[in-house]
Amino acid sequence: MKNINWGITGTGRIARTFSDALAKTQNAVLYAVASRSKNKAENFAQEYGFSKAYGSYSELAHDNNIDIVYIATPMASHFNDVMLCLENGKNVLCEKSVTLNSEQLEKILSKAKEKNLFFMEAMWTKCRPVFLKTMEWVKNNKIGNIKYIKADFSNNVKYNPDDRLFRADCGGGALLDLAVYPLSFAEAFLGYPDEIISSAHIRDGIDLSNSITLKYNNAFVSIDSGFEIPLKNNAIISGTDGYIILGDRFFCTCDAVLYDRNGSEIEKFNAQNIINGYEYEIIEAQKCICENLEESPLVPHSGTLSVMKIMDECRRQWGLKFPDEQ
Ligand SMILES: NC(=O)c1ccc[n+]([C@@H]2O[C@H](COP(=O)([O-])OP(=O)(O)OC[C@H]3O[C@@H](n4cnc5c(N)ncnc54)[C@H](OP(=O)(O)O)[C@@H]3O)[C@@H](O)[C@H]2O)c1
Repeated sequence: MKNINWGITGTGRIARTFSDALAKTQNAVLYAVASRSKNKAENFAQEYGFSKAYGSYSELAHDNNIDIVYIATPMASHFNDVMLCLENGKNVLCEKSVTLNSEQLEKILSKAKEKNLFFMEAMWTKCRPVFLKTMEWVKNNKIGNIKYIKADFSNNVKYNPDDRLFRADCGGGALLDLAVYPLSFAEAFLGYPDEIISSAHIRDGIDLSNSITLKYNNAFVSIDSGFEIPLKNNAIISGTDGYIILGDRFFCTCDAVLYDRNGSEIEKFNAQNIINGYEYEIIEAQKCICENLEESPLVPHSGTLSVMKIMDECRRQWGLKFPDEQ
């Protein structure tokens, strides 16, 4: 596999975690980082060992030595940041939630197609071994037909009106920040639902917490997410012949257990991270680029779009629009 020159847009929390993984992933080159502040970019570059530091996202997008840009900005910035990269011929790995709504995502997907570029949502959960093992069990009919999925993502983050998580102008809220994980998880197994039933607690233009039921012909999905709600966040997939439980914090767990319909343990799976868990999406994106793919089979565009459409419908039911949508 050839070396891949990575560029990063944004220098916040996840850009740091991602760079930790990048630094130790084979064939990944920490090439360039961009911030809205040149000083921040230089400090970040020095700390992690990036060769170039840019004081604007546009300069990075114009650097022809970059193979792929990882977008690590708040949700409300993703559309412009991704389009800037695609317009300038860059492949893109964009953080979740990939856009504010499905309309923005559809524009991105058609731009990526027009330019023959690789585009992927950084839904790292779907690239991790424990998720792939769960998929394999389901595909191999170990639990029969899926009847029920329960997955939650809540956390103990305190309300802070200055944090992007709670700012409507940043695309904040539990739906796009947290529920996107259990929704992506459920969608990967069951696709787009027949019916969506949801409710939310809203404050200052964002949802602090929400509850979503997806109804399918023969199955239900139940998802709760929210801030200031400490929970273990495991996930259950139950079928006609058995069930699977993914460990606490299912989106980053290393453990899954397969049970038969009577609750007897059939198989246990554990795969420790090689680095910090983000390496799998990096490896996947690099593999796709080397194989000239425009879409990852692990994180297909159709799944990302389905989840954005589900989230559009939830917000429609809550009467919630972001400032950019008014
Ligand atoms: N995969 C995961 O596990 C995971 C975890 C956390 C977050 N995320 C996702 O990653 C993205 C960033 O989250 P984060 O927690 O890293 O956010 P953060 O700490 O607030 O950092 C975001 C960065 O984006 C840049 N930025 C551009 N426009 C901004 C604006 N209007 N307001 C604030 N910052 C702005 C800033 O970098 P500069 O000042 O350098 O330009 C800032 O440092 C989100 O999409 C989030 O959902 C993913």
